[in-house]
Amino acid sequence: MSKIKFAVIGLGHIGKRHAQMIKNNEWAELVAGIDCNATLKADIESTFGCPFFNSAEEFFASGIKADVINVCTPNGLHAQHAILALENACHVVVEKPMGLTKADCEKVIYKSLQAHKHVFCVMQNRYSPPSAWLKQVLTEGRLGKIYMAQINCYWNRDERYYKKGGWKGTLDLDGGPLFTQFSHFLDIMYWLLGDIKNITARFENFNHAYTPFEDSGAVNFDFYDGGLGVFNYSTSNWDKNLESSLTIIGEKGSIKVGGQYMDKVEFCHVKDYEMPELPPSNPPNDYGAYKGSAANHHYVIENVIDTLQGKSTATTNALEGLKVVEIIERIYALKAK
Ligand SMILES: NC(=O)c1ccc[n+]([C@@H]2O[C@H](COP(=O)([O-])OP(=O)(O)OC[C@H]3O[C@@H](n4cnc5c(N)ncnc54)[C@H](O)[C@@H]3O)[C@@H](O)[C@H]2O)c1
Repeated sequence: MSKIKFAVIGLGHIGKRHAQMIKNNEWAELVAGIDCNATLKADIESTFGCPFFNSAEEFFASGIKADVINVCTPNGLHAQHAILALENACHVVVEKPMGLTKADCEKVIYKSLQAHKHVFCVMQNRYSPPSAWLKQVLTEGRLGKIYMAQINCYWNRDERYYKKGGWKGTLDLDGGPLFTQFSHFLDIMYWLLGDIKNITARFENFNHAYTPFEDSGAVNFDFYDGGLGVFNYSTSNWDKNLESSLTIIGEKGSIKVGGQYMDKVEFCHVKDYEMPELPPSNPPNDYGAYKGSAANHHYVIENVIDTLQGKSTATTNALEGLKVVEIIERIYALKAK
């Protein structure tokens, strides 16, 4: 089997990680790095040993063949870059969130169907051992009926993160903390417990006067499959992240998974069940002044390769990527009311 050829568009914090994970995989080849910031050229070419292009259009005009384009540009550009990649007969790996509107995600899916290409969404927290374990526990029905689930995401994002002139903190390119920081945890919630209805929410902007969106929210809802849900979030924590946790109260037991990104099982008491020892979780992505979600991107690249080689299916497919965006859209729509 020949190597899968990847090109990465957007070579900032996470794009460089994609590039490194591609370089580290024996079945992957990095054929190009693409970024509108021309000052990155020398660094990208020397670090990753691949040609650099200033725009996706320039890359596609070069004649270099890529099987997969990894879209790591700001949130508001994901859909247009994914569509451009599909129009050029490439599969797509799209960083979270898949887009900033359900309508944009639908356009990506229509294009992927026309082009017969895959769209892989990045939700790498699913690979964390507690998440995978929880999925198994719930799929096996060990908790019985679900009574309640509470998600708490309390993180720090301040001026060290929201830099003047950057895309972070803008409405059209960032979209707000549910898209940029907490879509991972809405994805885990949807993956484990399904869709939600009867949503009510309150929002506050405590200490990010320089962003056009609130930094905090308390969201209440019902799960379609039964049970009450609560999603509390904030990026207003002083200095550092506190936690991202999920507590589930079921008919036959209670579980709490906590840590920075739901990476630690803090409580498990379930009828006729002994909790297995889980492998250690990978640390969070470290961006210096602040920390992000799980450093699990190598699994994402492995999953793309396995899927294209016919050995697996996408861990997070485009419909799931769209669904998370649609849930966020429904929550944020309550701001207008
Ligand atoms: N999965 C995760 O844990 C995770 C972590 C961090 C970021 N992300 C996501 O990755 C994306 C990038 O985030 P980041 O923190 O790396 O941002 P960043 O600002 O560090 O990097 C974005 C890069 O995209 C480039 N860019 C902007 N417009 C472009 C264009 N039109 N063409 C080519 N390049 C362009 C910028 O020059 C920059 O280098 C965001 O969507 C973010 O939500 C995901």
